[in-house]
Amino acid sequence: MAIIIDGKAVAEKIINELKQKVSSMETKPHLAVIQVGDNPASTIYVNLKKKRAEEIGIKSSVINLSEAVSEKELINKIKELNNDKNVTSILVQLPLPKHINANNIIKTILPEKDVDGFTNQNAGSLLNGMIPSAYPCTPKGVMRLLDEYNIKIEGKHAVIVGRSNIVGKPLAIMLLNRNATVTICHSKTNNLKEITKQADILVSAVGKKVIFNDMVKPNAVVIDVGIFKDNYNKTTGDVDFENVKEIASYITPVPKGVGPMTIASLMENTVDLYNENLK
Ligand code: GUN
Repeated sequence: MAIIIDGKAVAEKIINELKQKVSSMETKPHLAVIQVGDNPASTIYVNLKKKRAEEIGIKSSVINLSEAVSEKELINKIKELNNDKNVTSILVQLPLPKHINANNIIKTILPEKDVDGFTNQNAGSLLNGMIPSAYPCTPKGVMRLLDEYNIKIEGKHAVIVGRSNIVGKPLAIMLLNRNATVTICHSKTNNLKEITKQADILVSAVGKKVIFNDMVKPNAVVIDVGIFKDNYNKTTGDVDFENVKEIASYITPVPKGVGPMTIASLMENTVDLYNENLK
């Protein structure tokens, strides 16, 4: 039976450390979050981000824009925030409506205020082995969990299922930079099970139930980044937790696994960008 990785507890520890740091600051970091439209999942995440920020003493503003907003209007809003000296971090909640090209939006954000680490400059820095202004929040949270539980990364075969710019790709680079051997699988991968069975560290970031116990090597570390509602409206992840926990060495639950770490990483990034901007 696996050790259950307690993401909620690690996140709480990070939040408490940040509270201390922020309380001693004369002026406070200010996170601006833009939400376009009213995707229910996005609304939940945005509200959580605002709540956590306030708890820590970080200023936050949520800017709600209509689903019908044009790409140009959204770009202008970001430029306004780029120029606003009081705003130290900018986050555009994804996904965006189909008529907006997310890459055009992301590249408008000033890299020094890019709290997600999604801009070309920050993503490129990560790829080139330089230190970005911010590391993408979910991969950063996953790395932190592995480190908190002293899980060895060097030399291990890490298999990531999912190739998004938000999770799969940046996480692959972060694991590679720590000397893991990394395989990225996705919806077009042939013989997925044959590959996942080779993983010492298996990360799933798909958003559907895709990882079952016959796909997991005994004693593998299993990290579940997926979060969605099942047919009974219960929050669940990509991994068949009840069966996989019997063979894994470590496993993250959903909820209370990676989710709280994403928010904690965002708060850390907000504080770090603020400190960098002061320099
Ligand atoms: N949507 C899902 N995850 C994320 C994230 O980490 N950042 C942003 N901006 N949007 C998201």
